[in-house]
Amino acid sequence: NKVVLAYSGGLDTSIILKWLQDQYQCEVVTFTADIGQGEELEPARAKAQALGVKEIYIEDLREEFVGEYVFPLFRANTVYEGEYLLGTSIARPLIAKRLVEIANRTGADAIAHGATGKGNDQVRFELGAYALKPDIKVIAPWREWDLTSREKLLAYAEQHNIPIERKRGNQSPYSMDANLLHISYEGGPLEDPWQEPEEEMWRWSVSPERAPDKHLILELEFAQGDIVAIDGTPMKPARVLSYLNKVAGANGIGRLDLVENRYVGMKSRGCYETPGGTVMLKAHRAIESLTLDREVAHLKDELMPRYASLVYNGYWWSPERKLLQELIDSSQSHVNGKVRLKLYKGNVIVTGRYSATNSLFDANIATFEEDEGAYNQKDAEGFIKLNALRLRIAAQLQSR
Ligand code: ARG
Ligand code: SIN
Repeated sequence: NKVVLAYSGGLDTSIILKWLQDQYQCEVVTFTADIGQGEELEPARAKAQALGVKEIYIEDLREEFVGEYVFPLFRANTVYEGEYLLGTSIARPLIAKRLVEIANRTGADAIAHGATGKGNDQVRFELGAYALKPDIKVIAPWREWDLTSREKLLAYAEQHNIPIERKRGNQSPYSMDANLLHISYEGGPLEDPWQEPEEEMWRWSVSPERAPDKHLILELEFAQGDIVAIDGTPMKPARVLSYLNKVAGANGIGRLDLVENRYVGMKSRGCYETPGGTVMLKAHRAIESLTLDREVAHLKDELMPRYASLVYNGYWWSPERKLLQELIDSSQSHVNGKVRLKLYKGNVIVTGRYSATNSLFDANIATFEEDEGAYNQKDAEGFIKLNALRLRIAAQLQSR
């Protein structure tokens, strides 16, 4: 029997690799993806080879990740619990899908991952895998083994000749996860929600205090709800996001520190940097403000928290998420045009929006000046009176 392991090349998943070989006497296939985490992938190949792995899959999934997962998420203006832009949550369904596809191709009957039994990620990987391959077996070593402390893990690594990064400065006290949408930090000093994170923790952005004193102006062009060009240069999805990460991070944009509710029931404190995503969300709302019908926009806003929970809780591959996605995507056929923004010391400030083909803004109707009969102010009297009818009836009853 064979198992496909989601392998980062780091210490923890290297230990898992060895442990799977020993514990299950099985052949391990490794899968390592570039989703923009900013790490070299070739070391993962060398490490897997050193551990005797014969089938090694290393793939660049950046374009698929942003185009098929991040952009659809942003079409809905998705935010979990008012703040979190779902950077980790949205990457898991893609990993789950590739794990299953590789299992099918290599004839493996199981997948394995390095998520703990306390978190959301295990749920996302496994709900995804079961949705795509109902008879798949799942191995989650963190829920099984007795390597329950850092010391035990290190001892296991030493005992099995798994190389440990010895350099002190290399060891981060945080549990981190990164991809093109965000980088996250949990654990360590963050486990006290009252404790301010140290400045050295943040890797993708400068603090607003240290951001340049001069603003940066950006023009983002949208086609069907997706950004297709920046400052007149056409860009594919992955390039859009990495470009925005760079300029927004340099202007102190996208830091977040929050306590969130995990699906498994506990509260958890996390810090996130989502510079490009923060800009995309603001810009997307701005272009929708011009191009979407009021009730369509409001309905999207009502459905959004539901959609966000589905993504956070791991239901990307569920029928209800797909149904919502069809509705959201179909609304986006109107969302064409451009948005001008100013980035300045942690702020994203919209300064203009324009649509040649889909603007519902009618200056003649909206004007405070003479409107040449486009709107009859007298109509408002009856509109208000009838809307007031039930309020007046209730007030009359009260005063009796
Ligand atoms: N709390 C965030 C989420 O559930 C981030 C999880 C980070 N995962 C990790 N393996 N470090 O989406
Ligand atoms: C983990 O437990 O593996 C990371 C945190 C999470 O999944 O929420």
